[in-house]
Amino acid sequence: MEPSIFVIFGGAGDLTWRKLVPALFDLYMDGRMPSGFAILSVDAVAEGIGKLRQHYRDGVRKFSHHAPEGKKWNEFAARISYLRADFTEDETYAKISGRLDDFDSGREGKPVHIFYLATPPRFFGEIAEHLGGAGLARKREQARIVVEKPIGHDLASMLRLNRQITGSFHESQIFRIDHFLGKETVRNILVFRFANPLFEPIWDRRYVDYVTITVAESIGVEHRGAYYEHAGALRDMIQNHLMQLLCLVAMEPPLSFDSNEVRNKKVDVLHAVRPISPGQVDASAARGQYGRGIVEDREVPAYREEDGVAPDSSTETYASLKLMVDNWRWQGVPFYLRTGKRLAEEASEVSIHFKNVPHQAFPREASLNWLPAALVICIQPQEGIVLRFQAKLPGPEIVLEPVWMHFLYEEAFRTPPPDAYETLLWDVMLGDATIFMRSDQVEAAWSILTPVIEHWEATPPADFPNYAAGTWGPLNAEVLITMGGCAWPSPASLEAKRAREKP
Ligand code: BG6
Repeated sequence: MEPSIFVIFGGAGDLTWRKLVPALFDLYMDGRMPSGFAILSVDAVAEGIGKLRQHYRDGVRKFSHHAPEGKKWNEFAARISYLRADFTEDETYAKISGRLDDFDSGREGKPVHIFYLATPPRFFGEIAEHLGGAGLARKREQARIVVEKPIGHDLASMLRLNRQITGSFHESQIFRIDHFLGKETVRNILVFRFANPLFEPIWDRRYVDYVTITVAESIGVEHRGAYYEHAGALRDMIQNHLMQLLCLVAMEPPLSFDSNEVRNKKVDVLHAVRPISPGQVDASAARGQYGRGIVEDREVPAYREEDGVAPDSSTETYASLKLMVDNWRWQGVPFYLRTGKRLAEEASEVSIHFKNVPHQAFPREASLNWLPAALVICIQPQEGIVLRFQAKLPGPEIVLEPVWMHFLYEEAFRTPPPDAYETLLWDVMLGDATIFMRSDQVEAAWSILTPVIEHWEATPPADFPNYAAGTWGPLNAEVLITMGGCAWPSPASLEAKRAREKP
Protein backbone atom coordinates (compact mmCIF):
# COMPACT_ATOMS: atom_id res chain seq x y z
CA MET A 1 0.00 0.00 0.00
CA GLU A 2 1.24 3.48 -0.85
CA PRO A 3 1.90 6.00 1.94
CA SER A 4 -1.37 7.80 2.66
CA ILE A 5 -2.38 10.99 4.36
CA PHE A 6 -5.97 11.62 5.47
CA VAL A 7 -6.89 15.28 5.35
CA ILE A 8 -10.07 15.36 7.39
CA PHE A 9 -12.25 18.43 6.94
CA GLY A 10 -14.41 18.60 10.04
CA GLY A 11 -11.66 17.07 12.14
CA ALA A 12 -13.21 18.36 15.35
CA GLY A 13 -16.64 16.94 14.52
CA ASP A 14 -18.65 13.97 15.68
CA LEU A 15 -18.05 11.69 12.67
CA THR A 16 -14.28 12.01 13.02
CA TRP A 17 -14.44 11.35 16.74
CA ARG A 18 -16.95 8.52 16.66
CA LYS A 19 -16.05 6.70 13.45
CA LEU A 20 -12.99 7.83 11.50
CA VAL A 21 -10.24 7.98 14.10
CA PRO A 22 -11.43 4.81 15.92
CA ALA A 23 -11.49 2.93 12.59
CA LEU A 24 -8.04 4.20 11.61
CA PHE A 25 -6.69 3.16 15.00
CA ASP A 26 -8.14 -0.34 14.64
CA LEU A 27 -6.60 -0.65 11.18
CA TYR A 28 -3.29 0.49 12.62
CA MET A 29 -3.45 -2.04 15.45
CA ASP A 30 -4.32 -4.80 13.00
CA GLY A 31 -1.29 -3.92 10.89
CA ARG A 32 -3.37 -2.69 7.97
CA MET A 33 -2.10 0.87 7.70
CA PRO A 34 0.70 1.67 5.30
CA SER A 35 4.00 2.31 7.06
CA GLY A 36 3.84 5.92 5.93
CA PHE A 37 0.55 7.41 7.04
CA ALA A 38 -0.61 10.61 8.67
CA ILE A 39 -3.80 12.35 9.67
CA LEU A 40 -4.21 16.07 9.14
CA SER A 41 -7.28 17.27 10.94
CA VAL A 42 -8.69 20.52 9.58
CA ASP A 43 -11.32 22.54 11.40
CA ALA A 44 -12.17 26.05 12.47
CA VAL A 45 -12.32 25.49 16.22
CA ALA A 46 -9.51 26.70 18.45
CA GLU A 47 -8.11 23.39 19.58
CA GLY A 48 -4.55 22.68 20.64
CA ILE A 49 -3.10 19.46 19.25
CA GLY A 50 -2.68 18.03 22.77
CA LYS A 51 -6.35 18.49 23.58
CA LEU A 52 -7.42 17.14 20.21
CA ARG A 53 -5.36 13.97 20.61
CA GLN A 54 -6.86 13.49 24.06
CA HIS A 55 -10.35 13.95 22.62
CA TYR A 56 -9.61 11.37 19.90
CA ARG A 57 -8.23 9.01 22.51
CA ASP A 58 -11.53 9.18 24.43
CA GLY A 59 -13.35 8.34 21.20
CA VAL A 60 -11.03 5.43 20.49
CA ARG A 61 -11.53 4.11 24.02
CA LYS A 62 -15.28 4.21 23.46
CA PHE A 63 -15.62 2.98 19.89
CA SER A 64 -12.53 0.95 18.87
CA HIS A 65 -11.91 -2.76 19.29
CA HIS A 66 -8.44 -1.94 20.63
CA ALA A 67 -7.62 0.09 23.74
CA PRO A 68 -5.57 3.26 23.12
CA GLU A 69 -2.75 2.48 25.50
CA GLY A 70 1.02 2.65 25.77
CA LYS A 71 3.55 2.85 22.98
CA LYS A 72 1.11 1.95 20.22
CA TRP A 73 -1.24 4.79 21.03
CA ASN A 74 1.66 7.24 21.34
CA GLU A 75 3.00 6.19 17.94
CA PHE A 76 -0.44 6.56 16.38
CA ALA A 77 -1.15 9.90 18.06
CA ALA A 78 2.20 11.29 16.88
CA ARG A 79 0.95 11.00 13.31
CA ILE A 80 -2.00 13.31 13.94
CA SER A 81 -1.62 17.01 13.30
CA TYR A 82 -4.10 19.86 13.31
CA LEU A 83 -4.70 22.84 11.06
CA ARG A 84 -7.03 25.48 12.38
CA ALA A 85 -8.57 26.93 9.26
CA ASP A 86 -11.71 28.13 7.54
CA PHE A 87 -12.92 25.79 4.76
CA THR A 88 -14.06 28.74 2.65
CA GLU A 89 -10.72 30.60 2.37
CA ASP A 90 -8.09 30.13 -0.35
CA GLU A 91 -5.34 30.50 2.23
CA THR A 92 -6.44 27.25 3.90
CA TYR A 93 -5.75 25.28 0.76
CA ALA A 94 -2.33 26.88 0.29
CA LYS A 95 -1.48 25.74 3.81
CA ILE A 96 -2.80 22.24 3.14
CA SER A 97 -0.73 22.12 -0.01
CA GLY A 98 2.37 22.96 2.04
CA ARG A 99 1.58 20.20 4.53
CA LEU A 100 1.12 17.71 1.71
CA ASP A 101 4.48 18.66 0.21
CA ASP A 102 6.06 18.00 3.61
CA PHE A 103 4.34 14.63 3.78
CA ASP A 104 5.47 13.64 0.30
CA SER A 105 9.05 14.80 0.53
CA GLY A 106 11.52 11.99 0.80
CA ARG A 107 8.85 9.29 0.52
CA GLU A 108 9.15 6.49 -1.95
CA GLY A 109 6.25 5.52 -4.22
CA LYS A 110 3.26 7.70 -4.95
CA PRO A 111 1.85 9.07 -1.71
CA VAL A 112 -1.95 9.12 -1.65
CA HIS A 113 -3.81 12.23 -0.51
CA ILE A 114 -7.27 11.46 0.82
CA PHE A 115 -9.54 14.46 1.33
CA TYR A 116 -12.30 13.33 3.65
CA LEU A 117 -15.29 15.65 3.91
CA ALA A 118 -16.63 15.02 7.40
CA THR A 119 -18.33 18.42 7.41
CA PRO A 120 -21.94 19.49 7.18
CA PRO A 121 -23.08 18.85 3.58
CA ARG A 122 -23.33 22.56 2.73
CA PHE A 123 -19.51 22.67 2.52
CA PHE A 124 -19.06 19.69 0.17
CA GLY A 125 -19.21 21.53 -3.14
CA GLU A 126 -17.18 24.49 -1.98
CA ILE A 127 -14.35 22.38 -0.52
CA ALA A 128 -14.16 20.31 -3.71
CA GLU A 129 -13.91 23.49 -5.79
CA HIS A 130 -11.20 24.93 -3.58
CA LEU A 131 -9.20 21.71 -3.72
CA GLY A 132 -9.44 21.82 -7.51
CA GLY A 133 -8.53 25.51 -7.59
CA ALA A 134 -5.42 24.87 -5.48
CA GLY A 135 -4.30 22.11 -7.84
CA LEU A 136 -4.72 19.45 -5.15
CA ALA A 137 -6.98 17.22 -7.24
CA ARG A 138 -4.74 17.15 -10.29
CA LYS A 139 -2.93 13.87 -9.78
CA ARG A 140 -5.61 11.32 -10.63
CA GLU A 141 -3.89 8.31 -9.12
CA GLN A 142 -2.94 10.08 -5.94
CA ALA A 143 -5.71 12.48 -4.94
CA ARG A 144 -9.03 11.06 -3.69
CA ILE A 145 -12.07 12.74 -2.24
CA VAL A 146 -14.47 11.04 0.15
CA VAL A 147 -18.01 12.37 0.53
CA GLU A 148 -20.57 11.19 3.04
CA LYS A 149 -24.29 10.97 2.46
CA PRO A 150 -26.56 12.91 2.07
CA ILE A 151 -25.44 13.42 -1.52
CA GLY A 152 -27.86 16.22 -2.25
CA HIS A 153 -31.29 16.94 -0.84
CA ASP A 154 -33.12 15.98 -4.02
CA LEU A 155 -32.31 15.22 -7.64
CA ALA A 156 -31.58 18.83 -8.64
CA SER A 157 -29.26 19.54 -5.69
CA MET A 158 -27.51 16.19 -6.17
CA LEU A 159 -26.78 17.07 -9.79
CA ARG A 160 -25.54 20.52 -8.76
CA LEU A 161 -23.22 19.05 -6.14
CA ASN A 162 -21.99 16.48 -8.59
CA ARG A 163 -21.08 19.19 -11.07
CA GLN A 164 -19.09 20.99 -8.38
CA ILE A 165 -17.18 17.85 -7.37
CA THR A 166 -16.58 16.56 -10.88
CA GLY A 167 -15.39 20.04 -11.87
CA SER A 168 -12.28 19.23 -9.83
CA PHE A 169 -12.13 15.44 -9.47
CA HIS A 170 -12.53 12.67 -12.01
CA GLU A 171 -15.22 10.08 -11.15
CA SER A 172 -12.49 7.51 -10.42
CA GLN A 173 -11.17 9.79 -7.65
CA ILE A 174 -14.54 10.18 -5.92
CA PHE A 175 -15.55 7.84 -3.09
CA ARG A 176 -19.17 8.40 -2.05
CA ILE A 177 -19.81 6.62 1.21
CA ASP A 178 -22.91 4.69 2.10
CA HIS A 179 -21.70 3.08 5.30
CA PHE A 180 -24.17 0.17 4.93
CA LEU A 181 -21.99 -1.06 2.07
CA GLY A 182 -19.10 -1.47 4.49
CA LYS A 183 -21.09 -3.75 6.81
CA GLU A 184 -19.87 -7.31 6.76
CA THR A 185 -23.36 -8.78 6.42
CA VAL A 186 -24.16 -6.50 3.49
CA ARG A 187 -20.93 -7.39 1.70
CA ASN A 188 -21.73 -11.03 2.29
CA ILE A 189 -24.88 -10.75 0.16
CA LEU A 190 -22.79 -10.90 -3.01
CA VAL A 191 -20.72 -13.79 -1.70
CA PHE A 192 -23.79 -15.71 -0.61
CA ARG A 193 -25.54 -15.17 -3.92
CA PHE A 194 -22.67 -15.62 -6.33
CA ALA A 195 -20.31 -18.07 -4.62
CA ASN A 196 -22.97 -20.73 -3.94
CA PRO A 197 -24.86 -22.59 -6.63
CA LEU A 198 -27.65 -23.46 -4.21
CA PHE A 199 -29.96 -20.48 -4.21
CA GLU A 200 -29.21 -18.57 -7.39
CA PRO A 201 -31.29 -20.91 -9.61
CA ILE A 202 -34.41 -20.12 -7.57
CA TRP A 203 -33.63 -16.41 -7.11
CA ASP A 204 -36.24 -15.12 -9.52
CA ARG A 205 -39.92 -14.64 -10.32
CA ARG A 206 -40.54 -18.39 -10.78
CA TYR A 207 -39.87 -19.14 -7.10
CA VAL A 208 -39.90 -15.83 -5.26
CA ASP A 209 -43.28 -14.47 -4.22
CA TYR A 210 -42.08 -11.14 -2.84
CA VAL A 211 -39.15 -9.52 -1.08
CA THR A 212 -39.18 -7.33 2.02
CA ILE A 213 -36.33 -5.09 3.09
CA THR A 214 -36.60 -3.77 6.62
CA VAL A 215 -34.30 -1.40 8.47
CA ALA A 216 -36.06 -0.90 11.78
CA GLU A 217 -34.54 1.23 14.51
CA SER A 218 -35.74 1.49 18.09
CA ILE A 219 -33.81 4.72 18.68
CA GLY A 220 -35.42 8.09 18.01
CA VAL A 221 -33.74 11.04 16.32
CA GLU A 222 -31.50 11.56 19.36
CA HIS A 223 -29.52 14.82 19.16
CA ARG A 224 -30.04 15.12 15.37
CA GLY A 225 -33.52 16.67 15.34
CA ALA A 226 -32.43 19.79 13.42
CA TYR A 227 -30.85 17.72 10.62
CA TYR A 228 -33.64 15.16 10.56
CA GLU A 229 -36.37 17.78 10.22
CA HIS A 230 -35.03 18.53 6.72
CA ALA A 231 -34.36 14.94 5.82
CA GLY A 232 -37.02 12.48 6.99
CA ALA A 233 -36.92 8.71 6.61
CA LEU A 234 -37.18 8.69 2.82
CA ARG A 235 -34.08 10.83 2.29
CA ASP A 236 -32.16 9.67 5.35
CA MET A 237 -32.49 5.91 4.81
CA ILE A 238 -34.44 4.79 1.75
CA GLN A 239 -32.63 6.92 -0.85
CA ASN A 240 -29.32 5.35 0.12
CA HIS A 241 -29.15 2.38 2.50
CA LEU A 242 -32.33 0.57 1.46
CA MET A 243 -31.78 1.26 -2.25
CA GLN A 244 -28.30 -0.24 -1.93
CA LEU A 245 -29.75 -3.36 -0.33
CA LEU A 246 -32.30 -3.59 -3.11
CA CYS A 247 -29.51 -3.44 -5.70
CA LEU A 248 -27.48 -6.18 -4.04
CA VAL A 249 -30.45 -8.50 -3.71
CA ALA A 250 -31.86 -7.93 -7.18
CA MET A 251 -28.77 -7.48 -9.37
CA GLU A 252 -27.60 -9.88 -12.06
CA PRO A 253 -24.35 -11.80 -11.52
CA PRO A 254 -21.36 -9.61 -12.33
CA LEU A 255 -18.76 -10.92 -14.75
CA SER A 256 -16.02 -10.04 -12.28
CA PHE A 257 -15.52 -8.10 -9.09
CA ASP A 258 -14.16 -5.14 -10.98
CA SER A 259 -15.59 -2.05 -9.30
CA ASN A 260 -17.31 -0.71 -12.39
CA GLU A 261 -18.69 -4.09 -13.39
CA VAL A 262 -20.34 -4.56 -9.96
CA ARG A 263 -21.67 -1.03 -10.00
CA ASN A 264 -22.98 -1.42 -13.56
CA LYS A 265 -25.03 -4.39 -12.46
CA LYS A 266 -26.33 -2.50 -9.45
CA VAL A 267 -27.36 0.55 -11.41
CA ASP A 268 -29.18 -1.70 -13.90
CA VAL A 269 -31.56 -2.61 -11.09
CA LEU A 270 -32.41 1.01 -10.36
CA HIS A 271 -32.93 1.70 -14.04
CA ALA A 272 -35.36 -1.21 -14.17
CA VAL A 273 -37.48 0.06 -11.27
CA ARG A 274 -40.90 1.00 -12.60
CA PRO A 275 -41.37 4.77 -12.21
CA ILE A 276 -44.05 5.70 -9.72
CA SER A 277 -46.43 8.11 -11.40
CA PRO A 278 -47.72 11.01 -9.28
CA GLY A 279 -51.19 9.46 -9.24
CA GLN A 280 -49.77 6.17 -7.94
CA VAL A 281 -47.86 7.51 -4.93
CA ASP A 282 -50.57 6.73 -2.39
CA ALA A 283 -50.80 3.14 -3.61
CA SER A 284 -47.01 2.70 -3.61
CA ALA A 285 -45.79 4.55 -0.54
CA ALA A 286 -46.75 5.08 3.09
CA ARG A 287 -45.38 7.49 5.65
CA GLY A 288 -45.62 7.91 9.40
CA GLN A 289 -44.39 9.85 12.37
CA TYR A 290 -44.03 8.54 15.92
CA GLY A 291 -46.00 9.82 18.82
CA ARG A 292 -45.24 9.13 22.48
CA GLY A 293 -44.87 5.54 23.49
CA ILE A 294 -42.93 2.92 25.40
CA VAL A 295 -39.61 1.63 24.15
CA GLU A 296 -37.65 -0.92 26.17
CA ASP A 297 -39.94 -0.31 29.16
CA ARG A 298 -39.25 3.41 29.10
CA GLU A 299 -41.65 6.20 28.18
CA VAL A 300 -40.30 8.19 25.27
CA PRO A 301 -41.44 11.52 23.84
CA ALA A 302 -43.16 12.05 20.51
CA TYR A 303 -41.05 13.15 17.54
CA ARG A 304 -42.64 16.59 17.72
CA GLU A 305 -41.34 16.91 21.29
CA GLU A 306 -37.71 16.15 20.39
CA ASP A 307 -35.04 18.90 20.43
CA GLY A 308 -34.79 20.85 17.19
CA VAL A 309 -38.15 19.59 15.90
CA ALA A 310 -41.13 21.83 15.08
CA PRO A 311 -44.21 21.16 17.25
CA ASP A 312 -46.29 20.76 14.07
CA SER A 313 -43.62 18.98 12.03
CA SER A 314 -44.68 17.05 8.91
CA THR A 315 -41.39 15.18 8.66
CA GLU A 316 -41.82 11.43 8.32
CA THR A 317 -39.93 9.19 10.73
CA TYR A 318 -41.25 6.11 8.95
CA ALA A 319 -41.43 5.38 5.24
CA SER A 320 -42.34 2.35 3.21
CA LEU A 321 -42.41 1.77 -0.49
CA LYS A 322 -43.57 -0.84 -2.95
CA LEU A 323 -41.29 -1.11 -5.97
CA MET A 324 -41.58 -3.26 -9.07
CA VAL A 325 -38.44 -4.19 -10.97
CA ASP A 326 -39.30 -4.48 -14.63
CA ASN A 327 -36.81 -6.97 -15.96
CA TRP A 328 -36.78 -10.61 -16.98
CA ARG A 329 -35.80 -11.92 -13.55
CA TRP A 330 -38.19 -9.97 -11.37
CA GLN A 331 -41.29 -9.31 -13.48
CA GLY A 332 -44.32 -9.33 -11.18
CA VAL A 333 -42.36 -9.70 -7.90
CA PRO A 334 -42.98 -6.77 -5.55
CA PHE A 335 -40.15 -5.42 -3.40
CA TYR A 336 -41.40 -3.81 -0.19
CA LEU A 337 -39.01 -1.47 1.61
CA ARG A 338 -39.62 -0.04 5.07
CA THR A 339 -37.66 1.88 7.64
CA GLY A 340 -38.55 3.81 10.74
CA LYS A 341 -37.36 5.24 13.99
CA ARG A 342 -38.74 4.27 17.40
CA LEU A 343 -40.05 0.95 16.13
CA ALA A 344 -40.64 -2.05 18.37
CA GLU A 345 -37.26 -3.70 17.78
CA GLU A 346 -33.96 -2.94 16.16
CA ALA A 347 -33.78 -5.26 13.17
CA SER A 348 -32.35 -4.89 9.68
CA GLU A 349 -33.25 -7.80 7.46
CA VAL A 350 -33.84 -8.74 3.86
CA SER A 351 -36.42 -11.50 3.51
CA ILE A 352 -36.96 -13.52 0.36
CA HIS A 353 -40.45 -14.99 0.62
CA PHE A 354 -40.81 -18.07 -1.56
CA LYS A 355 -43.93 -19.16 -3.40
CA ASN A 356 -46.03 -21.97 -2.09
CA VAL A 357 -45.74 -25.51 -3.42
CA PRO A 358 -47.94 -25.97 -6.52
CA HIS A 359 -50.10 -28.58 -4.84
CA GLN A 360 -50.76 -29.07 -1.11
CA ALA A 361 -51.05 -32.83 -0.70
CA PHE A 362 -51.25 -32.74 3.10
CA PRO A 363 -54.61 -32.61 4.83
CA ARG A 364 -55.62 -29.22 6.20
CA GLU A 365 -55.24 -30.35 9.82
CA ALA A 366 -51.61 -31.28 9.11
CA SER A 367 -50.63 -27.81 8.07
CA LEU A 368 -52.36 -25.50 10.52
CA ASN A 369 -49.00 -23.98 11.51
CA TRP A 370 -47.78 -23.84 7.97
CA LEU A 371 -45.74 -20.81 6.93
CA PRO A 372 -44.17 -20.29 3.50
CA ALA A 373 -40.46 -20.86 3.09
CA ALA A 374 -38.32 -17.78 3.58
CA LEU A 375 -34.65 -16.99 3.41
CA VAL A 376 -33.65 -14.08 5.61
CA ILE A 377 -30.41 -12.15 5.47
CA CYS A 378 -30.01 -10.69 8.95
CA ILE A 379 -27.89 -7.58 8.81
CA GLN A 380 -28.12 -6.40 12.41
CA PRO A 381 -28.18 -6.64 15.36
CA GLN A 382 -28.11 -10.42 14.92
CA GLU A 383 -25.76 -11.11 12.01
CA GLY A 384 -26.34 -14.13 9.86
CA ILE A 385 -28.62 -15.91 7.43
CA VAL A 386 -31.63 -18.01 8.40
CA LEU A 387 -33.84 -20.26 6.36
CA ARG A 388 -37.38 -21.18 7.30
CA PHE A 389 -38.93 -24.32 5.89
CA GLN A 390 -41.46 -26.99 6.88
CA ALA A 391 -40.49 -30.05 8.87
CA LYS A 392 -42.51 -32.94 10.20
CA LEU A 393 -43.30 -32.57 13.87
CA PRO A 394 -42.10 -35.78 15.60
CA GLY A 395 -45.02 -38.11 16.34
CA PRO A 396 -47.20 -40.74 14.71
CA GLU A 397 -49.32 -38.23 12.71
CA ILE A 398 -48.08 -36.04 9.92
CA VAL A 399 -48.07 -32.51 11.24
CA LEU A 400 -46.06 -29.77 9.57
CA GLU A 401 -44.15 -27.27 11.63
CA PRO A 402 -42.02 -24.37 10.36
CA VAL A 403 -38.40 -24.67 11.53
CA TRP A 404 -35.30 -22.50 11.14
CA MET A 405 -31.86 -23.37 9.92
CA HIS A 406 -29.26 -20.78 10.75
CA PHE A 407 -25.79 -19.47 10.10
CA LEU A 408 -24.66 -16.92 12.66
CA TYR A 409 -21.44 -14.95 12.41
CA GLU A 410 -20.77 -15.21 16.13
CA GLU A 411 -21.01 -19.02 16.02
CA ALA A 412 -19.22 -19.55 12.73
CA PHE A 413 -16.34 -17.12 12.98
CA ARG A 414 -16.09 -16.28 16.69
CA THR A 415 -14.60 -12.87 16.08
CA PRO A 416 -16.57 -9.65 15.93
CA PRO A 417 -16.84 -8.29 12.38
CA PRO A 418 -14.90 -5.08 11.70
CA ASP A 419 -16.75 -1.81 11.86
CA ALA A 420 -18.02 -0.68 8.46
CA TYR A 421 -15.69 2.32 8.50
CA GLU A 422 -12.60 0.14 8.79
CA THR A 423 -13.51 -1.57 5.56
CA LEU A 424 -14.46 1.67 3.85
CA LEU A 425 -11.28 3.53 4.83
CA TRP A 426 -9.13 0.56 3.89
CA ASP A 427 -10.75 0.45 0.44
CA VAL A 428 -10.22 4.19 -0.03
CA MET A 429 -6.52 3.71 0.69
CA LEU A 430 -6.40 0.83 -1.79
CA GLY A 431 -8.30 2.89 -4.35
CA ASP A 432 -10.98 0.21 -4.71
CA ALA A 433 -14.36 1.89 -5.33
CA THR A 434 -16.52 -1.25 -5.55
CA ILE A 435 -18.45 -0.53 -2.36
CA PHE A 436 -18.84 3.19 -3.00
CA MET A 437 -21.70 4.86 -4.82
CA ARG A 438 -21.16 6.00 -8.38
CA SER A 439 -22.90 9.19 -9.43
CA ASP A 440 -25.29 7.49 -11.87
CA GLN A 441 -26.48 5.26 -9.05
CA VAL A 442 -27.17 8.16 -6.71
CA GLU A 443 -28.96 9.97 -9.52
CA ALA A 444 -31.11 6.93 -10.35
CA ALA A 445 -32.08 6.53 -6.69
CA TRP A 446 -33.15 10.17 -6.46
CA SER A 447 -35.13 9.83 -9.70
CA ILE A 448 -37.11 6.92 -8.31
CA LEU A 449 -38.03 8.88 -5.20
CA THR A 450 -38.75 12.25 -6.80
CA PRO A 451 -42.50 11.68 -7.41
CA VAL A 452 -42.93 10.51 -3.81
CA ILE A 453 -41.01 13.47 -2.40
CA GLU A 454 -42.99 15.92 -4.52
CA HIS A 455 -46.34 14.35 -3.69
CA TRP A 456 -45.61 14.24 0.02
CA GLU A 457 -44.45 17.84 0.04
CA ALA A 458 -47.58 18.93 -1.80
CA THR A 459 -49.92 17.07 0.56
CA PRO A 460 -48.91 17.57 4.20
CA PRO A 461 -50.12 14.68 6.34
CA ALA A 462 -53.25 15.35 8.38
CA ASP A 463 -52.82 12.35 10.69
CA PHE A 464 -49.31 12.79 12.18
CA PRO A 465 -48.32 11.39 14.62
CA ASN A 466 -49.83 8.16 13.32
CA TYR A 467 -47.91 5.47 15.18
CA ALA A 468 -46.91 5.13 18.80
CA ALA A 469 -43.23 4.78 19.63
CA GLY A 470 -42.47 1.13 20.34
CA THR A 471 -44.85 -0.29 17.71
CA TRP A 472 -44.23 -1.53 14.17
CA GLY A 473 -45.29 1.66 12.41
CA PRO A 474 -48.44 3.19 10.96
CA LEU A 475 -51.52 1.34 9.78
CA ASN A 476 -51.19 2.69 6.23
CA ALA A 477 -47.94 0.70 5.84
CA GLU A 478 -49.84 -2.46 6.80
CA VAL A 479 -52.50 -1.58 4.25
CA LEU A 480 -49.84 -0.97 1.58
CA ILE A 481 -48.46 -4.49 1.88
CA THR A 482 -51.72 -6.29 2.60
CA MET A 483 -53.27 -4.83 -0.54
CA GLY A 484 -50.60 -6.73 -2.45
CA GLY A 485 -51.48 -9.98 -0.66
CA CYS A 486 -48.20 -9.90 1.31
CA ALA A 487 -47.21 -9.23 4.93
CA TRP A 488 -44.37 -7.57 6.82
CA PRO A 489 -42.48 -10.34 8.56
CA SER A 490 -41.61 -10.16 12.22
CA PRO A 491 -37.82 -10.19 12.65
CA ALA A 492 -36.62 -13.64 11.66
CA SER A 493 -33.48 -13.33 13.72
CA LEU A 494 -35.64 -13.08 16.83
CA GLU A 495 -38.04 -15.83 15.76
CA ALA A 496 -35.14 -18.14 15.02
CA LYS A 497 -33.52 -17.28 18.34
CA ARG A 498 -36.75 -18.03 20.17
CA ALA A 499 -37.06 -21.33 18.32
CA ARG A 500 -33.48 -22.25 19.28
CA GLU A 501 -34.11 -21.44 22.91
CA LYS A 502 -37.43 -23.31 23.07
CA PRO A 503 -37.23 -25.96 25.81
C1 BG6 B 1 -27.51 6.91 9.08
C2 BG6 B 1 -28.78 7.67 9.31
O1 BG6 B 1 -27.10 7.03 7.74
O2 BG6 B 1 -27.71 5.54 9.38
C3 BG6 B 1 -29.27 7.48 10.73
O3 BG6 B 1 -28.55 9.04 9.05
C4 BG6 B 1 -29.38 6.01 11.06
O4 BG6 B 1 -30.52 8.13 10.91
C5 BG6 B 1 -28.07 5.30 10.73
O5 BG6 B 1 -29.66 5.89 12.44
C6 BG6 B 1 -28.21 3.80 10.89
O6 BG6 B 1 -26.95 3.23 10.72
P1 BG6 B 1 -26.46 2.04 11.64
O7 BG6 B 1 -25.14 1.64 11.10
O8 BG6 B 1 -26.41 2.56 13.03
O9 BG6 B 1 -27.50 0.98 11.48
